[in-house]
Amino acid sequence: MSLKELCEIASNCVQCPLHESRINVVFGKGPEDARIMLVGEAPGKTEDETGKPFVGMSGKLLSEIINEAGMDRSDIYITSIVKCRPENNRKPMKLEYCKCINLYLSKQIELINPDVIGLLGNSAVYALIGKKSIKQIHGKTYEVDGRKYIALFHPAAALYSRILLPQLKDDMLTLRKIIES
Ligand code: URA
Repeated sequence: MSLKELCEIASNCVQCPLHESRINVVFGKGPEDARIMLVGEAPGKTEDETGKPFVGMSGKLLSEIINEAGMDRSDIYITSIVKCRPENNRKPMKLEYCKCINLYLSKQIELINPDVIGLLGNSAVYALIGKKSIKQIHGKTYEVDGRKYIALFHPAAALYSRILLPQLKDDMLTLRKIIES
């Protein structure tokens, strides 16, 4: 199956309750052969309205941080652990993200086969590598089932708490160095 076919299937998904309130499925965006993948938590309001990942306030900050680290957002594949916006921006529930990861994210990872996956925030970190507390593990790399992951703060957390911003920038540089090594 191609990424395009998977995206088409996802766009009609009714496999969890999140489909009931969504406007658009936010599948992901970026090159099919991206070496870097970034995985966030869930689409927000602007993402739900546009069908594109990270286009709201945190998306703008994410683009800036990627640029500052000397990379180009258009080279990176960006998605989230769930593809539909949870109402009132609540955190996705275990049943929702487990289903969505099994149906879509795991296949996106397989098809794109990135060299490194940046996990943005606690939800993505816990869902994919089972670690808790981003404050303690941000900037660290993990190898799970033959895949390389790095934990990063979610840009929304850095918007809320500016003290995290330099650490997020630093960790994005670490991610770039992984690709260069
Ligand atoms: N936050 C996320 O985790 N994903 C998006 O697509 C937008 C905001």
